[in-house]
Amino acid sequence: MRQAGRYLPEYREVRAKVSFLDLCKTPALAAQVTLQPIKRFGFDAAILFSDLLVPLEAMGLPVTFTEEGPLLPTPFKGAADFERIKVFDPAKETPFVLETVRLARAQLGDVPLIGFAGAPFTTATYAIEGKTSKRFARTKSVFYREPAVAKRLLDLIAEATRGYLLAQVQAGAQAIQLFDSWVGVVSPADWEEFVLPPTAALVQAVRATGVPVIYFPNGATTLLDRIAAVGADVYGIDWRLPLDEARARLARGGATSAAVQGNLDPALLLGPTDRITQQAAEVIRQGGRRGHVFNLGHGIYPETPLESVEALVRAVQSAE
Ligand code: CP3
Repeated sequence: MRQAGRYLPEYREVRAKVSFLDLCKTPALAAQVTLQPIKRFGFDAAILFSDLLVPLEAMGLPVTFTEEGPLLPTPFKGAADFERIKVFDPAKETPFVLETVRLARAQLGDVPLIGFAGAPFTTATYAIEGKTSKRFARTKSVFYREPAVAKRLLDLIAEATRGYLLAQVQAGAQAIQLFDSWVGVVSPADWEEFVLPPTAALVQAVRATGVPVIYFPNGATTLLDRIAAVGADVYGIDWRLPLDEARARLARGGATSAAVQGNLDPALLLGPTDRITQQAAEVIRQGGRRGHVFNLGHGIYPETPLESVEALVRAVQSAE
């Protein structure tokens, strides 16, 4: 959940010297940034520093970062584009990611390292929209006008992501998180028809390596009973639903033994310490203690004060 990033002065110091993509592509720096939050706060796990768009570039869709966020100058427009996108060899196209995993792993000691990728739907929205979207009009028009093309694209992304994640595991990642940041815009019918099959196949392929898979369906708590069918070990829950209710919805879908991860509203860290401490205790209570990984309900805001994070870590660790 953006454990590293612009809220950290030591991150801003590194970023002052190098662009975001160059940072992702320079293993010594990316590993250093991966460890920054661990050194400062003593979190129980680290997440690989990279970006969700890195594998899209490796598939043949170049990526740039502007002030407004990511931009793909030549997005996927239709079937003809299958000529120019491909399942890639991670050792050849993303060696810097694998080297970052190896370097971070070597420096982390007992602290586990989480690898990650975008889930097929969220990655496909970037391939099709070319940027972070609000309405997803292009994505949805491909779904409805050319369903076979949409399915082929999602399958291709899932296949490329499978190789990419297996390579991260081989390089030393001890858990994998799949970010489905925009899946909250998908209807139940589209979830079943388009999104579930490639996502479940990807989750199963990664789980077959023996590492746990965390699936984060941001904004989609209304679908949690259906989402349970992806078969993840852990479900990341955003802040919009209490964890005990999330667990009940997952159980209705058959995920009775899955763990939950989350779900303090990251905006709370912009408020006073007593409110943070109080709500952290509430999240821990709702999480039920067993099978709960404490986390924020989505990414940390760049304007978050360090003291808020310190207060949160103290509150969670002293609750144990
Ligand atoms: O938590 C970590 O430390 C791991 C690093 C990480 C980043 N991006 C670094 C980053 C992870 C796990 C991601 C995943 C990612 N990237 C997602 C899924 C997570 C989510 O929030 O739902 C998405 C949608 C992206 C695409 C992306 N990358 C966007 C939309 C943006 C711009 C948003 C913004 O806040 O400006 C990025 C840039 C980005 N990725 C930054 C960081 C630290 C900020 C870039 C900078 O340093 O200028």
